[in-house]
Amino acid sequence: MAINLLLGLQWGDEGKGKIVDVLTRDYDIIARFQGGPNAGHTLIFDGYKHVLHTIPSGIFHKTAVNVVGNGVVIDPVIFKRELDNLSKFEIDFATKLLISRKAHLILPTHRLLDAASETAKGKAKIGSTLKGIGPTYMDKTGRNGLRVGDLEMADWQERYDALTEKHIRMIDFYGVKLEYDLKELQEEFDEGVKRLKELTFIDSEEYLNSALKNGKSILAEGAQGSLLDVDFGTYPFVTSSNTTAAGACTGLGIAPNKIGDVFGIFKAYTTRVGSGPFPTELFDEDGVEMAKVGQEFGATTGRPRRCGWLDLVALKYAVQVNGVTQLMMMKSDVLSGFDTLKICTSYMYKGEEISHFPFNVEPENVRPVYSEFKGWQADLTQMTEKEQLPKNLMDYISFIEKEVEVPIKIVSVGPDRKQTILR
Ligand code: IMP
Repeated sequence: MAINLLLGLQWGDEGKGKIVDVLTRDYDIIARFQGGPNAGHTLIFDGYKHVLHTIPSGIFHKTAVNVVGNGVVIDPVIFKRELDNLSKFEIDFATKLLISRKAHLILPTHRLLDAASETAKGKAKIGSTLKGIGPTYMDKTGRNGLRVGDLEMADWQERYDALTEKHIRMIDFYGVKLEYDLKELQEEFDEGVKRLKELTFIDSEEYLNSALKNGKSILAEGAQGSLLDVDFGTYPFVTSSNTTAAGACTGLGIAPNKIGDVFGIFKAYTTRVGSGPFPTELFDEDGVEMAKVGQEFGATTGRPRRCGWLDLVALKYAVQVNGVTQLMMMKSDVLSGFDTLKICTSYMYKGEEISHFPFNVEPENVRPVYSEFKGWQADLTQMTEKEQLPKNLMDYISFIEKEVEVPIKIVSVGPDRKQTILR
């Protein structure tokens, strides 16, 4: 049996949570492989809205087992809050939510370090979600981190104290003013750890590979998007993990030859939250309209998202880096009502027209070149069959498919599970 991947192809917030939720009925196991509470996966069903941060989006499915893989970073405080928010669903977490012993822990001081680093950067700040993601991955690669499995070790407290003290010295080094009550933060952390320890810790690479051998189907759920990948994204305005397909191998312990389908999720337009270059960003009425209709506010931080036209240069790049086999286009309904739509098909880069995603996409170097399309007026949100989709939308879809050379298999026309059209 192969493992399928589901990845965001833009700057995150493509709607992965919804699609995992739609697809979970086909899978025995849903596994998260990178990122942490910086993610906000929104699921809407039965009139309720749920936002998950670290817990995989298969948690509402009756039989699916959810795995938090070794590549994920876990903040016990936020994790406890997430579990508490799910209490009304009477989920048996001990059997349905398994945690990799090799996943790294976000300490309260990692969050403080994130804040200190961002403050010290001033105007050049990344626009981090301030969840401690960067500092935790720095400790991981710096070989100083603490992992879930360490919670079971006799010297846990000693190691926790030593790392915390080191962090405090580092915070002082930044020389920025930060208000915090360490005792309070530690008490909150201890509460979170207590709750986390009630869950089942596993050697997840062993668990997942055995599951594959036993014919189980696995869906790996990515967080953030390809353009936030630490290697291939718009560095340094990226997150600190590999959000692309390769990240699923290192974040779960799955070999590349075990990967089957790669589902790539993208919005019919583009959004970005936080700082960093965004070639097709709109600063006019069209951008305001997209933000308003698409309710473009971050699921984790509530920050307004920047909006712009679909960027095919970036999309092709993401499809290539990830080996995408099927595409899913989200939020098509948000584009209803525009007379004219634009898709960026190449960049003018330092005076030359290019069709690949270059080293630097800062606005002083890149100007998008657009093709124009006729819009559609129909409200898509009540549509359930592909035959109902307006001709101009079908033209828009066909153009993307032809350019990217990958079929669009799902067209999403609203946030609810039911508003999903299969092609
Ligand atoms: P960090 O991962 O919190 O350090 O944030 C780094 C950058 O990635 C910032 O620009 C964030 O806004 C962005 N980012 C992180 N997680 C997400 C996400 O789940 N969706 C969209 N943007 C994100």
